[in-house]
Amino acid sequence: MNFTKKEYWDNIYSSEKQEMDWYSTFSKIYPKIKHCFIDKSMKILQIGCGTSNFAKKLYQKGFSEITNIDISETAIEKMKKKYQNLSIKFEIMDTRNLTFKDESFDCIIDKGTLDSLLTEYPKENSLKMLSEIYRIMKPNSIFIEITWGTPFDRMFYLKNKKFKWKISHKIISCEKEEEKFTFYIYFLRKGKENEETKKG
Ligand SMILES: C[S@@+](CC[C@H](N)C(=O)[O-])C[C@H]1O[C@@H](n2cnc3c(N)ncnc32)[C@H](O)[C@@H]1O
Repeated sequence: MNFTKKEYWDNIYSSEKQEMDWYSTFSKIYPKIKHCFIDKSMKILQIGCGTSNFAKKLYQKGFSEITNIDISETAIEKMKKKYQNLSIKFEIMDTRNLTFKDESFDCIIDKGTLDSLLTEYPKENSLKMLSEIYRIMKPNSIFIEITWGTPFDRMFYLKNKKFKWKISHKIISCEKEEEKFTFYIYFLRKGKENEETKKG
């Protein structure tokens, strides 16, 4: 399957009526990542927001500087309409070519977009995505990557001499529709060189 195409996602989001969240919901994930959300004025970017209610939930917790991007015009138009009364930003944008200035965000979060981009030309696509994210991160800011990918699969892409970030992760096991499911949360803190990258 190829999940890198805009048309694929437009089609998914046109047939969907409700909000949907891939992998898991805000209420299950937030307790595992809340230590990253320290300051209510921090600038937050969600990559590949789809029709997830993540941004709304963060906004309800008092975070007011939230921007969301997605390659799918259908998803972004739905979200803009749905949240027109809230000051949350939604923009159509490709994560491989972000139009934000260098060092603009304090916290960047992705759930599922890296996984989608790894389904075609994984090395090229992940390098473009991660380079763009790294570029727009402020020094000492954090990138939270939520993925089904194990450390064995993902460290190959995340650990790169180009990126001076310190990586840690959490393993989350949960049940969805009576099936056991495991996903991973990677925390990439910019500005502190990864010990293993340092060793070369
Ligand atoms: C697995 S879904 C996850 C959606 C949402 N984050 C969630 O957890 O429900 C992947 C999302 O990435 C978006 N996407 C795929 N390729 C993209 C790209 N190059 N740039 C930005 N968004 C992209 C898709 O449109 C889709 O909304």
